[in-house]
Amino acid sequence: MRKVRFVEPAKLYRMIKKELDDVYFEIMDRGDLIDRSQLRRFEENLAKFVGTKYAVGVNSGYDALHLSLLAAGIGPGDEVIVPAHTFVATCSAVVNAGATPVLVDVGRDFNIDCSLIEAAVTPRTRGIIPVHLSGYMANMVQVREIAERHNLVIVEDACQSLGSSMLDERTGGRRMAGAWGLTGCWSFYPFKILGGYGDGGAITTDDPEVALFATRMRFNGEDRDTGEYHGHGFTCLLDNMQAAFLDVKLRYLPQWIERRKKIAQRYLESLSDLPDLLLPHYDDPRRDHIYQNYTVRSKQGDAFSEFLKANGVEVLTQFRKPYYRHEALKLEDRGFPETETLSREVCSLPMNVEIDDEEVSYVIEVVRKFYS
Ligand SMILES: Cc1ncc(COP(=O)(O)O)c(C=O)c1O
Repeated sequence: MRKVRFVEPAKLYRMIKKELDDVYFEIMDRGDLIDRSQLRRFEENLAKFVGTKYAVGVNSGYDALHLSLLAAGIGPGDEVIVPAHTFVATCSAVVNAGATPVLVDVGRDFNIDCSLIEAAVTPRTRGIIPVHLSGYMANMVQVREIAERHNLVIVEDACQSLGSSMLDERTGGRRMAGAWGLTGCWSFYPFKILGGYGDGGAITTDDPEVALFATRMRFNGEDRDTGEYHGHGFTCLLDNMQAAFLDVKLRYLPQWIERRKKIAQRYLESLSDLPDLLLPHYDDPRRDHIYQNYTVRSKQGDAFSEFLKANGVEVLTQFRKPYYRHEALKLEDRGFPETETLSREVCSLPMNVEIDDEEVSYVIEVVRKFYS
């Protein structure tokens, strides 16, 4: 039986092996392990790519979120609005900052439903974390309006959307994900669109105070020039080796995004006639999708995803059990009908730059076979 992997990190490595090997040997030769020029260079290039003044490399997307909330002064007694459908780290960062997460349901595009946000605002609400899920931005024009009306800090969870953008009518130009809020938070977990070879993350921001705070707190609160501790910090610096690998991959990102869009277009052309299958294509011309994930919704739920797996197509079904239903997290389930429904239906098809056209054809064939 044929097999199509969800991702194939070793194949991607072989595609750019020479460049990755070169930076590896250079770093090993020089012993450049912690907070060296490679990290600085990657941070500059990332900030340039996102369109912010600063980028600060940290150990994970979670750390980016956590430090952002601390930088905003959010803590005990404060409430922060988060979507009900996201990776749990979005919510855990709020809890671990000492604040209370207030969950809001999402819309058909998997992102926070802006029409429900204001009903969740209370006098204690200090912030909002819109998540740009799967490569498609939350409606930041509306989120920004609401945040301004209620004086809320915006921390963008852009972990799944590096390279996506939305038209900003205030400037008339496109503004990248991660450049709308106080901070943009990034994850370089290996399977992300820009993935490292271990954990990694970053904060992007235009605010020099936030950048300085994160730079110190990722290194146990220390100012590395003076040795002064400016607070009880964390050990969560982006590894120098990872930064060097990520810098190589960042150069490929625009062409990789184009490839992902082409694969998405093929899925669209070949599957859009299937009535029980909802594809992730939306009609807001202001936003573009970079397809970190190609998440479809099948009314047949597990029967659909199991059929694909049984036929050799590796798929991801995040998240069958919404995070607020995990008892140990002690979160309030205020009723999130869209999250409940989509959780039963989600299925992400293989979407990566390693996959070839024939493999895409096979995925399409198996999906059509299920419905025939
Ligand atoms: C939406 C979202 N938020 C936060 C994170 C946390 O990132 P990390 O795994 O790097 O901590 C991830 C990725 O795993 C994510 O997809």
